[in-house]
Amino acid sequence: MGEYLGRRIVLGIVMLICAVLGPTNRAAAAGGNAQVELAEEPPLAALTFDDGPRAETTGELLEGLALREIPATFFLVGERIEGNEALLKQMKDAGHQIGIHTYHHVKLTEVNQEQYQEEIGKTRALLSQALGEGDYWLRPPYGIYDDNVKHWADSPLVLWSVDPEDWKDQNKERVVSHVVSHVRDGDIILLHDIYHSSVQAALEIVDELTDRGFCFVTVEQLLKARGQEPVPGESVSRVPSSSH
Ligand code: NI
Repeated sequence: MGEYLGRRIVLGIVMLICAVLGPTNRAAAAGGNAQVELAEEPPLAALTFDDGPRAETTGELLEGLALREIPATFFLVGERIEGNEALLKQMKDAGHQIGIHTYHHVKLTEVNQEQYQEEIGKTRALLSQALGEGDYWLRPPYGIYDDNVKHWADSPLVLWSVDPEDWKDQNKERVVSHVVSHVRDGDIILLHDIYHSSVQAALEIVDELTDRGFCFVTVEQLLKARGQEPVPGESVSRVPSSSH
């Protein structure tokens, strides 16, 4: 009962956020249909950005997301944090989820436990210094992990279900078209905020999917909205509403 109630409350908050903030929910705003629209759970999607922060491009992205009041999830590379603390604060203040993408962007299957702890620990320390203690979830670089990583991890391993490979050609039109033609409810979309083309693509994706009624949430909000507990070491790549 408590769990059910909790889930309804979280869902209510998510829908309220969408209804209030999304230019999307025009139907709801139109008046008569408001009750009908709100009674149905909107499709959710989580935008995630890897390999930053990079002042030139991440700053531009944060501005675009702020204008649209859209939350996203950022997996940061530790060695890029120093000097970008103000950007991190801006991220946190805007309600974005922030996670760890290791310190040197290493393949976690190629490190021993000591190196693993250093890669995660150093990054976590920088995040804590800039933003305070927090749950900083892990996205393994390249999505590569093994049983050791599962065992060592103290957060879920956040993967993805839509990957336009934006780094390959840095072609905005292709990236937008890939994402909007593949996205389904509960998807986690992978982009890299170190490319100008990806930042532009991300904002177009937001506008297009918002028009289609999608609601954007952080990965943490996505799990909560679907009544799933984050389990350390367990991978998460998509959380559709039918999975509970
Ligand atoms: Ni990466």
